[in-house]
Amino acid sequence: MLGGSWQRGALSAALVLAAAGVASLPAPSTAAVRSPHTAAPHTVAALATAPDSASIVIPHNARTQGYQTRRVSLAQGGTLSAVNFDTIEHTVTADATGSNGLPLFDTDVPPNSTVNVPVGKLASGTYHFHCFFHPQVMTGTLVISGGSGGVKPVPPKFEQPLVLPPVLTKANLRIPIKVANVRVLPHGATTRMWTFAGSYPGPTIVRPAGKDTKITFVNQLPSSAGSLTMHLHGDHHSSANDGQPTTHLIPHGHSRTYDFPLTDGGKPERAASLWYHDHRMMRTGRDVWMGLEGMFLIHDAHEQSLPLPKGRFDIPLMISSRTFTADNQLTDPFPAHPTMQLTGPAAPPDDSTIGKQFLANGRFAPFLRVSTHRYRLRLVNGSNFTPYDFVLSDGRPFVQVGTGNGLLPKPVVRQDILLGPAQRADVVIDFHRELNKRILLESQPRNDTTSSRAIGTPSVAIMQFRVAYNSTKDASRIPATLQAAPKLVAPTKITKTWTFDVAGDKTTGSNWTVNGKPFDPNRVDLKVPLGSTQTWKLHNASPITHFIHIHEEQWHTVSRDGKAPPAWERGLEDTWKLDPGETVTVAARFTDHTGVFMIHCHMLDHEDHGLMAQFQVVRPSRSSASRPVPATFLPALFGTTSRGAPAGILATMSALLGGPTVHRVAPLPKSRRWMCGPRTKHAARRPVARPI
Ligand code: C2O
Ligand code: CU
Repeated sequence: MLGGSWQRGALSAALVLAAAGVASLPAPSTAAVRSPHTAAPHTVAALATAPDSASIVIPHNARTQGYQTRRVSLAQGGTLSAVNFDTIEHTVTADATGSNGLPLFDTDVPPNSTVNVPVGKLASGTYHFHCFFHPQVMTGTLVISGGSGGVKPVPPKFEQPLVLPPVLTKANLRIPIKVANVRVLPHGATTRMWTFAGSYPGPTIVRPAGKDTKITFVNQLPSSAGSLTMHLHGDHHSSANDGQPTTHLIPHGHSRTYDFPLTDGGKPERAASLWYHDHRMMRTGRDVWMGLEGMFLIHDAHEQSLPLPKGRFDIPLMISSRTFTADNQLTDPFPAHPTMQLTGPAAPPDDSTIGKQFLANGRFAPFLRVSTHRYRLRLVNGSNFTPYDFVLSDGRPFVQVGTGNGLLPKPVVRQDILLGPAQRADVVIDFHRELNKRILLESQPRNDTTSSRAIGTPSVAIMQFRVAYNSTKDASRIPATLQAAPKLVAPTKITKTWTFDVAGDKTTGSNWTVNGKPFDPNRVDLKVPLGSTQTWKLHNASPITHFIHIHEEQWHTVSRDGKAPPAWERGLEDTWKLDPGETVTVAARFTDHTGVFMIHCHMLDHEDHGLMAQFQVVRPSRSSASRPVPATFLPALFGTTSRGAPAGILATMSALLGGPTVHRVAPLPKSRRWMCGPRTKHAARRPVARPI
């Protein structure tokens, strides 16, 4: 499971193959055990026949047919090629990785072409491979035989210490947003990133609940970055301070002060593990990828009174994925100017930007020296698109004490924790009696769904805890009860159902829809009276998982798929997993602020491609209703059918960004896009040499 392999996904992949009606390979003995680090012994047959050159054949419709050659034998040091008879690009990518976390071999195979797959001198053994774009169906096995020595898969070395971003605690903060060089990878050049105050992740802001906090963000990025907007995710504040995609922007060279009272209904908010990030229309993916994300912790008296681990035993931990060029720079998987991809492999629902390497607090494969003590970890998934199913390498459970929106009523013991983009978990792990042990924080392929179309999670070792110090006393413990969710009587009547789907086809291009409509920043889909309590239904009708986020309020999860929510969803939430077909019912009371707020998918490619909608909190009496959002030219552009919509979206978005005219069929970004499926691992790659 070390080093970014997929072996735990072998079973689900086989099921998918069977489900897709593709004849599964007779299981070769060498494929029974998929360990990335011990090359399996080669077969006698392979020894007898291993040729000095071999080809991997990609047939027409490989996306559904898989590789034509599922098993390829090659003598050590031999020449491997790939022949693509298909009309779209595929790859030949090793499951197993080297110590740098990158696949042992990884070659793009353009349509209708033959290319060399440089495998170098691999140690003899069995190597599973997949297509980066279509990992569910396109899998195969390369058997290397003969010779001696050679390159073997290895786990990452955990060579650099975990870095904790600087902590800011003042009521008035000024944070420059600027280019800085960050030591992300352990060797070679530093990485040029867009940062908050020179740090990736941005400084951790720690504030007491109920104490007004003003943060002035100064946009010092190169003008080509355009305007920015900053969203404090999970917090309750006014619409003007919400960092929305198209309003109240921070232009190049300008600053904007955001005011967060950290109160709700006149009372202090509850302690919470929030985070902040850019939210610019159609550019959130790029801006976050470049580094614009950080953590924001709110504490309160109740939480402080509990004996949970504190101080240096309370660690904010942001997990993200990124892909780097050979000289350690971030690849640019995003279009040169913002567009919606309406056709091709990057169009919805196949739009995704996934990093090939996994970072903890912005560092690749870091270690943290810890004591024999309990630790509290504030896990934040700060990835653009990648969900993780977190586990600890020695099989020990996490004890989850909170969500991103505060403490759970009771601690929940969890063997694994699935977190999609923007989701958080507040967990305690216990290193007592573990002196000198090394324990890894990993992600495993998720196994909690029967839907073959649900998004998968990578198998990767992310960071290492080295239990290096004996701590004689540990006053912390985990109380049996933590904090009940605030009282709320959820109306049984559903005020609003939000259905997430995809529309269009090959000729029109595809686009995301909410209740059948593409995103329109000038349209409000629901007016919510201030002071009301509402129950909403979130339903995923699309063929891929989404992680749906609602701004402004912290929500009670009333039910998940008609049943009581799991124990870890009984606190407050702002972002929910919705696998294909899933329905989640949520309830909240709308307090304090009128104005427009967002509901959207937090997989940033989906968000940037318009899987968003808006609601508006209004004064309850008609006479004092707040000014409605202007509904100007959009109805004409968007029409009433989704088919007519995409051109309108493009024109509108381009106008909103003040950008260049956008052609209807945009060029594909130089990126890697990933199909939904139970196994994942992907990267935005093929860097474009373009100055930031
Ligand atoms: Cu974390 Cu609307 O976003
Ligand atoms: Cu989504």
